[in-house]
Amino acid sequence: MALRLGDEAPNFTAETTQGPINLHEWLGNGWGILFSHPKDFTPVCTTELGTMAKIASEFQKRNVKVIAISVDPMDAHKGWIKDINETQKANVNFPMIADPERKVAMLYDMIHPNALDNMTVRSVFVIGPDKKIKLMLTYPASTGRNFDELLRVVDSLQLTAKYQVATPANWKDGEDCIIVPAVKDEEIPAKFPKGHRAVKPYLRYTPQPNK
Ligand code: BEZ
Repeated sequence: MALRLGDEAPNFTAETTQGPINLHEWLGNGWGILFSHPKDFTPVCTTELGTMAKIASEFQKRNVKVIAISVDPMDAHKGWIKDINETQKANVNFPMIADPERKVAMLYDMIHPNALDNMTVRSVFVIGPDKKIKLMLTYPASTGRNFDELLRVVDSLQLTAKYQVATPANWKDGEDCIIVPAVKDEEIPAKFPKGHRAVKPYLRYTPQPNK
């Protein structure tokens, strides 16, 4: 059955460019991002992996481990990383899973044969410290992903895991948040001492609680 938000992220042990990794053990108590790309030595993928490498420290700051995957073999990954580093002025320091037998790709439903034969599509799974899937994205081969959006989503997920808030459209870290409907009006002063403004009874904003 297809994976859904809230499902446990399927565990696996796989060969990576940094040695064998058991996903759940490797994640420990932190957050994770597992993202697939269609093929090594291809142009869009080269820019994506370089972009991720350049902002990897931002994910580290947020206690998020990053791991890439494609169905290419290990020697291809190792050769391609040199190209990524050279052309993207980057230093790929996150592991890449070599999955030529497609074990992980099948587990995470990353192969969509009607879109892309025999390759993984551009999937992203954000995994929480409880090992549950918090976010899934699927992009076609022709569209490189926006990795700043992944950082933005992580900021929202980590915030909303701690406080009874949600984040509005195009929200960025530091901006006002929405008080979730489960919070009664009379509970707001104690829960949100920075104040709030009610635009409608169901649309109540408060300054970001952890800023
Ligand atoms: C690319 O990364 O450029 C790419 C990969 C697979 C199919 C098409 C494009």
